[in-house]
Amino acid sequence: MGKDVIIACDFDSKQKTLAFLDKFTGRKPFVKIGMELFYAEGPSIVREIKARGHKIFLDLKLHDIPNTVKKSMAVLSHLDVDMTNLHAGGTVRMMQAAIEGLTREDGTRPLLIAVTQLTSTDEESMRNDLLIEKPIDEVVMHYAENAKIAGLDGVVCSPLEAGKVHGRCGEKFLTVTPGVRFADGDVGDQKRVMTPAEAKRIGSDYIVVGRPITAAEDPVAAYERCVAEFIG
Ligand code: C5P
Repeated sequence: MGKDVIIACDFDSKQKTLAFLDKFTGRKPFVKIGMELFYAEGPSIVREIKARGHKIFLDLKLHDIPNTVKKSMAVLSHLDVDMTNLHAGGTVRMMQAAIEGLTREDGTRPLLIAVTQLTSTDEESMRNDLLIEKPIDEVVMHYAENAKIAGLDGVVCSPLEAGKVHGRCGEKFLTVTPGVRFADGDVGDQKRVMTPAEAKRIGSDYIVVGRPITAAEDPVAAYERCVAEFIG
């Protein structure tokens, strides 16, 4: 799979999601289904969107004991998603178990991406709440290296970190980057943002874009603009 724009379908119901996707009569975008929609509608929403011809990033961020993660990943692999994720904080052993569970009998599996530290966690809360004394950049890069050691395909990170992750883990290690905004668009609650064109320059492999597309007056035009800027 090459570079692509993934639309974050952060809707709370099947009805709203399908009404949104109905607008895309041409190219079928790669879509991200997160916890909100998955918990509201269950696995059937994944099957339904897949049957419509979309690739799916199932963003459930698993974090549990290795055995539970392995068995849960086996269930997700049968849902036939294209990409899914977990927390690197669950340790290398948990990530290795996840790969085992996700791998189908024929040896294929969805891409598996790690969340390093959530962007909502800052250095102060890492130190005070988690007792992690190292600088956050170092922690993020260490977790990315752990994900690589465990055999994962890449990490979710800020587009600002994508170059550094590739430097440490190699060009083939995927960077999936949210926090993307058009140069003339609303930033909203995202703090560190980049345009699709900048994300392309810095080497992001996939950009995850929500509101700049879902809240646009013309979502299809906004998506096509993203694709044009990011993929060209
Ligand atoms: O609407 P917006 O473009 O900000 O949506 C970004 C998407 O990426 C949301 O689904 C959000 O949960 C997700 N995300 C993020 N920052 C992270 C990890 C995930 O914005 N660090």
